[in-house]
Amino acid sequence: MNHSTLSPSFNNNPKVPLDFNTLHTIPDSHEWNKSTVVDDPNTIEPIPIIDLTDPNAASLIRHACEKWGVILIINHGVPMDIVKQLELQTYELFSLPSERKACALRSEGSLFGYGLHRVAPFFPKLLWSEGFTMLGSPMEHAQKLWPHQPDQRTNFCTIMEEYQKEMKKLSGKLMELMLESLGLTSEDVEWFKPKTGLDRAQSMLQLNSYPTCPDPDRAMGLAPHTDSSILTILHQSISGGLQIHEDGIGWIPVDAVPGSLVVNVGDFLHILSNGLYKSPYHRAVVKNTHHRISVAFFYVPPSDVKNGPLMKLIDDDHPALYNSVTWAEYLQNKSYLDIKPKQVT
Ligand code: SIN
Ligand code: FE2
Repeated sequence: MNHSTLSPSFNNNPKVPLDFNTLHTIPDSHEWNKSTVVDDPNTIEPIPIIDLTDPNAASLIRHACEKWGVILIINHGVPMDIVKQLELQTYELFSLPSERKACALRSEGSLFGYGLHRVAPFFPKLLWSEGFTMLGSPMEHAQKLWPHQPDQRTNFCTIMEEYQKEMKKLSGKLMELMLESLGLTSEDVEWFKPKTGLDRAQSMLQLNSYPTCPDPDRAMGLAPHTDSSILTILHQSISGGLQIHEDGIGWIPVDAVPGSLVVNVGDFLHILSNGLYKSPYHRAVVKNTHHRISVAFFYVPPSDVKNGPLMKLIDDDHPALYNSVTWAEYLQNKSYLDIKPKQVT
């Protein structure tokens, strides 16, 4: 997977996140004007919690993806002790001193390692967050993070690899359910044949840290964006902080329900579904009481395949809304300030 063609469009971003623990006010570089959350989230239809073992899961998913583009899933098959360990190891990493984290900084042109959130360079203001990105074993970076603690390094890598294995299984299962919810099967996607072991999707794991913030209303954890993936599976720590935007309503919190995982429709599922499923505009806010973490697994199309609206969803009444593009082509043209995928021209 190669993002090196992405060129940050804004501000001379520093490469290293601030040492947030030393700050008692928000520096100008990090000051945002945030519109507030919907006054009473109880007045709106809640984001559904879907039990993946429910025989009606596919139809519940369809309704939720048309309406919100986000669901919470339970009975997803991922052992909770792995999720707990994942959370502990993520805190372990981000609690290291800044100088130590800087040793594992992403190198120029690389996607992997420690640094600003990957979307940070696309926004005019800096974010109250830091991130760590990996694909497969993070050992190369773990050696720099814990040069004298081989046990800690092994624990970190073991749990990150185990979690990625669980995510690969779960994302395949979700992809099948998404297709079923659209009245389709894996036969309708050329690169996705899980029964014959052929799921050529790519993936990536992103750890996010949102340190406790002295003035949360003037800072932004993660700026509003849509995900470029097919789908994203997110674990967030119990303090919550993820919000989705709904036209005419505002920002709606996506609660951290114990035992659940959040599934976001990404831009590519929006395109595959010919616009039927929403790729929700979302952001992460910070708190003055909690150091929040989240872990996002991105399930992304194979890089060499052009994907457009799935054939069976297109007819005279439903013409294709999007051109077919590879993931790399899509990323090159994506604008973070105009988040709608480009329609057929
Ligand atoms: C993301 O959108 O990639 C992460 C969101 C979150 O931290 O809740
Ligand atoms: Fe996202």
